Parts: sequence; C-alpha cells; structure tokens
Amino acid sequence: MTDPRPHPRPLLIDCDPGIDDAIALLLAFSMPEALEVTGITTVAGNVSLSSTSRNAMRVRGLAARPEVPVFAGCPRPMLAQPVFADDVHGVDGLGGVSLPGEPGGLAARHGVDALVEQTADRPGLAVVAVGPLTNLAVALVKRPEVARRIETLVVMGGGLAHGNITPAAEFNVFFDPEAARTVVEAGLRPVLVPLDATHGAPVTAAMIDELAACGEGVAPEAAALLRAYHANVGTDRPGAYVHDAMALAVLVWPELFERRPARLQVRTDAGPERGRTLADFASSEPNAEVVVGLDAPAFLARLFERLRGFPRSVPAGHPIPA
Ligand code: BDR
Ligand code: CA
Repeated sequence: MTDPRPHPRPLLIDCDPGIDDAIALLLAFSMPEALEVTGITTVAGNVSLSSTSRNAMRVRGLAARPEVPVFAGCPRPMLAQPVFADDVHGVDGLGGVSLPGEPGGLAARHGVDALVEQTADRPGLAVVAVGPLTNLAVALVKRPEVARRIETLVVMGGGLAHGNITPAAEFNVFFDPEAARTVVEAGLRPVLVPLDATHGAPVTAAMIDELAACGEGVAPEAAALLRAYHANVGTDRPGAYVHDAMALAVLVWPELFERRPARLQVRTDAGPERGRTLADFASSEPNAEVVVGLDAPAFLARLFERLRGFPRSVPAGHPIPA
C-alpha cells in the first residue's frame, strides 16, 4: 500500500534550544527529501524565550535555511515559575559555541497563532515538540480543533522510571506540568519519547571526536555543541543524551523504535510528585504511545551520518521571508 501522506512531510518543530534541540533541528534540516520544515516555534524552557528564539535562528543560520520561519511563543509556563537549565546548556543555551551563518529575524506572528494556523493550512502536519508544552497547550485551549488537525505528534518528555530535574519529574514536563497535562488529556494520542528511551543512546566523547575530525559542513559546529553539552552532563555517565534528536528520529525512522499504547497521566499537585509522568500499559483506554525500546547503535549511526554529510546549501525556489 502506498503512503497517503504528503511527501516531503510537513513538520513544525516546537522547541527551546538548548543543545539537544539544536541537534534535532540540524537532523531535521539534513533531510529535505523526507521533511519540509514549515516552521519552528520557540518556548521558554532551557533558557529564556528571547534566548531560545535567538538560538533557533542561529541554528537556522548555520544550516543556511533562511526560508524556515521562527515564531516566538510563550515566555513563561501556564502557572509555574520558570526553572531554567543553563547549567546543562550554558548561559546562552548553546554552550557558548559561536555559529557561522546569518540568523535572520523572527517572524511576526506569535508561536501559538502560527501553530494554530499551520495545523489548519497544512494537511498531514507532523509536530515534534521537544520543549515544555506551553505553546501546544495554549493552542489547544484557544482552538480545540488543533487536536484533530495534527496528524502525528511526537513529544520528548517524561521519565517513567525516574526524572532528571527532580527524582520524579523530567525537565520538559516539570517546567510546565499544567501544559503537559493539557496536551496529554486533549485526545491527540501523542508518541511519547521519555528519558527511559533517550538514556538508551548516550553520545560518547569518542563519537564527538570522530564528528569533529570530519571537518565538513555543519560537523565542526555540531561537534562543538555536543562537546559543550558532554562537558556539562556527560562526563559522569556513559555519555550525553540527545533526547530531542531522538524525538525527531522517532518520526523519520520509526522502524528503529518499539512503541506501546499506554494511558498517560501527569501529576500537577504541589510537592515532590509534581511533574511525574505515569504510564499505564494495561489500560483499555490508551491515550498515547510510549517508546519503550530502540536500536540505539542504528539511531546513533544514522544521526552522526546525517551530521557528517550535511550539505549546508539553500534549497532552490524558497524565498527569504520578510
Ligand atoms: C529535555 O529537557 C531539556 O533540557 C532538553 O532539551 C530536553 O528537551 C530532557 O529532559
Ligand atoms: Ca528541549
């Protein structure tokens, strides 16, 4: 049977760059044959909204993809106080690494409105959300029909066995638990990529050295970003976890991942359980699919192959947005 979805597949990336977000963006930009990146919406998360927006534009500049609009979204969580992750991603959010290329400017529309509009205008739209879920939650509150219009939603978030910002909670969910709960309860049936999956594919110092040695295209900058990330979070572990790039990989290389239906719940009560994600795999009313297994060597091999072979050319026929 032929795949009825548009090809290349339209994709909106909702993110808070963030080093692993930047790697996810580069991976998406590296496969124009499979993905048409129709926009990037940014949200406060790893660092402030002004920094995540600037970083999305910087990565766009590095990738020489000026035709992709960047829309700034929500500057704070729905109810919570922001808790940034600059210890992990650096004060600027990209490890202090300087990136060549022209970042360009922000698109005029708000990220939430862009999300609503793109779901209406782009049949078959996939959304990969790799930051706190504030933009998506506000879009769903504003226009509930957004839930029907997103063909596929992949979310990096949650940790079933353990958290990474508190013992119970993963960062993206903890930053805005009310938003995560809103999205989980909206009937979108997201594919969740939790820490339990992302921790299965650590990026080692040796992999980064090999990428740096390649010296072509975006490889030197991607290696510098990963080196900064590894220095902050990878040295006392098997390596650094490229959570957000894995979420992108789940969309484009589904054959590398095992998914199971589950009923998800997000705890929003105050106290040590706030932000915990619970998955009931025995439920007869699943509201999500959870990535429970992966071919880690194949994921990492394909990711690094893409980062090494990135052409860095502007596709023909795309106007530069005003
Ligand atoms: C998630 O939190 C952020 O720090 C990363 O960018 C990723 O999206 C991992 O918990
Ligand atoms: Ca992120």
